[in-house]
Amino acid sequence: MKSKVTVVGAGNVGATTAQRIFEKGHSDVVLIDVVEGIPQGKALDILESGPIVKSDATIIGSNSYEESKDSDIVVITAGVARKPGMSRDDLLITNMNIVGSVTESVILHSKNPIIIVVSNPLDAMVQHCYEKSSLPKERVVGMAGILDTGRFRTFLSSELNVSVNNIDAYVLGGHGDSMVPLLKATTVGGVPVEDLIEKDRLEQIVQRTRDGGAEIVSYLKTGSAYYAPSAAVAQMVDAIVFDTKEIFPCAAMLDGEYGISGVYAGVPVKLGSNGIEEIINLDLSKEEKEGLDKSSKAVEELIQIMKDQA
Ligand code: LAC
Repeated sequence: MKSKVTVVGAGNVGATTAQRIFEKGHSDVVLIDVVEGIPQGKALDILESGPIVKSDATIIGSNSYEESKDSDIVVITAGVARKPGMSRDDLLITNMNIVGSVTESVILHSKNPIIIVVSNPLDAMVQHCYEKSSLPKERVVGMAGILDTGRFRTFLSSELNVSVNNIDAYVLGGHGDSMVPLLKATTVGGVPVEDLIEKDRLEQIVQRTRDGGAEIVSYLKTGSAYYAPSAAVAQMVDAIVFDTKEIFPCAAMLDGEYGISGVYAGVPVKLGSNGIEEIINLDLSKEEKEGLDKSSKAVEELIQIMKDQA
């Protein structure tokens, strides 16, 4: 039997995510958006690609959450995107209200889904979704680390002229200016990246990774990135549907891991059919641990602003 995956938000990230999942053929997809006609039109267009891309999955678009009934996985992309010059945090209150009401609607129709949150500011939105959903923490996960790591690996690949497949990297912490690349755990064909690229140049590449989302926004002007973000979500969906138990950097609710409790942060997690099946504890250097603490403090500040608004 196919899995059922609902994608909320039929903008660029949502529609591209729905397309990527549909094309894999393993899940029937529901695309939901408040704007009349958009999810229906995009879903029908994707459906009509089925015979060409050889997918027998179904996809429907709807303005109603009833169609999402009994979803195994729900991907929340709803929310407004950044405009040039805006930080992800500038979206906080608007997207908090959107993600909160989406979560309530999702939970009305699916008892025990795994929710993947993509809306920004990511760490605060996944925290808000977790609190609104009353789901166990293992079933609410945020997408960011795979995207940030993907960007980092892309830049390292072009710097060193090595296949992206040979670059292992971890980017932890928040999805924002405070993300923490783990240079010790970043290797190229097994060789630590710090032995291959000199410090200053590596710092430039790290900074480009931190600014990766903003770099795309500055080109697009009317929206933010979606090809790489949707690829990252599709990889998480695959791991859950096929119970692969792969380890990816994702935003997870910490309960003492890395000395942090009660707040979402980007850490390596094992993804499988039960969602987050394990949080992997890496040995961090002093600077990396300080970076992660700083990053989670920044998320805590956003959480406090949301609480004050509630
Ligand atoms: C980015 C947005 C999706 O990093 O946060 O491109």
